[in-house]
Amino acid sequence: MIKFDKVQKKYPNGYVGLKDIDLEIEQGEFVAIIGLSGAGKSTLIRCINRMHDITDGSLMVNGTDVKNIKGKEVREFRKTIGMIFQSFNLITRATVLKNVLISAVPELSWWRRILGVFPEEAKITALESLDNVGILDKAYIRVDQLSGGQQQRVALARTLAKKPEVILADEPVAALDPVTAKVVMDDFKRINKDLNISVLINIHHVDLALEYADRVIGIRKGEIVYDGPSEKVTQEVLDEIYLKDEQEGN
Ligand SMILES: Nc1ncnc2c1ncn2[C@@H]1O[C@H](COP(=O)(O)OP(=O)(O)OP(=O)(O)O)[C@@H](O)[C@H]1O
Ligand SMILES: [Mg+2]
Repeated sequence: MIKFDKVQKKYPNGYVGLKDIDLEIEQGEFVAIIGLSGAGKSTLIRCINRMHDITDGSLMVNGTDVKNIKGKEVREFRKTIGMIFQSFNLITRATVLKNVLISAVPELSWWRRILGVFPEEAKITALESLDNVGILDKAYIRVDQLSGGQQQRVALARTLAKKPEVILADEPVAALDPVTAKVVMDDFKRINKDLNISVLINIHHVDLALEYADRVIGIRKGEIVYDGPSEKVTQEVLDEIYLKDEQEGN
């Protein structure tokens, strides 16, 4: 379970990116986070894996008190959380399989990585992950020869190979055409349902959020203004989430 208790995130320049966030997410939920640009969507998910430090309140992620872990504990904790970005973040000159393997066995010595000597077990995990997102046939192809949609699926396979409990995705389909975006969203959904991995996705496409997520969280200026089932997101709710404030300020 992920539990935010009066979480605040104040950036070093004084800007308050998150205000008093209270939130509980059960294991296995599929949550879409929507809101205007600058609302705090990335800030919210980046607090969960300690890419950002919260500045007040408490945040528990599957029993870990995220604010109070240090050094090695942070590295161990991060292994349980997958992160997917809009820009894929892959090693484009390496093969698909190598990209997945490097993430599956991060503690491997540098010379083994360079020579490509990976444990058999890791290879099986990596191939299974590729199969899970339907790109097993691309295992030996270089990443730079794949389309954007295929690259995002490699990124997803790479994350899966770490056997995470939670996957955080920051605009994973923003760079993809509408058809490919759905293919990738289908992967997220399948992974969520089959493997019971919690999925939290920041997404600008409201239609995709409503179609795929079980639960929608609407953020406006660092505050949650809607939290509920996707079926209950009415136009009125959307108007509130996407309301532009003329007297902008914090
Ligand atoms: N390092 C930083 N220092 C100061 N302010 C920041 C920093 N990072 C983000 N912010 C501010 O925090 C607010 C929330 O940013 P965030 O990136 O979480 O928004 P977002 O909802 O993800 O937007 P987008 O849809 O454009 O990705 C914004 O006003 C942003 O300018
Ligand atoms: Mg963002």
